Amino acid sequence: MRRACVIGWPVEHSRSPLIHRYWLKHYGIDGDYVKEAVRPEELARFLGSLGARGYAGANVTLPHKEAALRAAESADEAAMAIGAANTLWFDPDGTLHASNTDAYGFMTNLEAEAPDWNAGRRPVMLLGAGGAARAILHGLLAAGVSRILLANRTRDRAEDLAEAFGEAVEMVDWADRNRALQGCGLLVNATSLGMTGKEALDVDLAALPNDAVVADIVYSPLETDLLAAARARGNRVVDGLGMLLHQAVPGFERWFGVRPEVTPELRAHVAASLGAT
Ligand code: ATR
Repeated sequence: MRRACVIGWPVEHSRSPLIHRYWLKHYGIDGDYVKEAVRPEELARFLGSLGARGYAGANVTLPHKEAALRAAESADEAAMAIGAANTLWFDPDGTLHASNTDAYGFMTNLEAEAPDWNAGRRPVMLLGAGGAARAILHGLLAAGVSRILLANRTRDRAEDLAEAFGEAVEMVDWADRNRALQGCGLLVNATSLGMTGKEALDVDLAALPNDAVVADIVYSPLETDLLAAARARGNRVVDGLGMLLHQAVPGFERWFGVRPEVTPELRAHVAASLGAT
């Protein structure tokens, strides 16, 4: 039996077991996927014995994503550019490989839900400068976006990102975020604002073109206030659940040997656990 896990601290909230167990059952695979609560100071030792513990690989969530990249013996381009890993597997020679599938998950979902999101080659407005924003920046630039406006409450973090990712990324003051929406083709919320239990995201969409796409990485609630406001004024919306589902695909394929599909049934299964229909 092949096994994989999600490693976090805390890890209780992780939806990954729901996704991978659904696929294991759906494809009739004799495997398991469990949660592993690992303290930060124990991560290196835990990863050093991952294979000995019977795991074919793992997902890594907060706060371990940067440390997991450092602990692995090789890494793909996305993980290096993002500076963090969320998926680990063993290469055929037994070495631990780090990947980051967040950019892949975001972009694959965006392409699926709004295939012409970049048809007008208009600027993209990105809110946030944490790990998620970093992954999305990488994905957007790899997809050929030539201008990304980046706004973050803490200016220094946005400046660091703008510097790391080059001249396509342009800083916008957090206070100017509403005005900067003028002429944008895509707005992405990559902050944690709007999540159940967190503060609301204060954005006025008035300046955003009506044919722009609005995407949120927050998936709890599934329909955030941002997406509801965007939908109400005729913008197409892309929710955060799709990114969560798609980022899980490459890991499952590596660990269990089947490339799984993101289907409406899987979506409904995970959405039900979020309290949505
Ligand atoms: P992740 O790695 O999941 O992206 P993170 O690094 O904690 O998480 O980033 C969270 C993002 O939400 C950051 O952009 C953060 O802004 P700061 O860099 O200023 O902290 C943003 N965020 C969180 N709470 C916020 C708030 N009350 N107002 C504005 N932005 C907020």
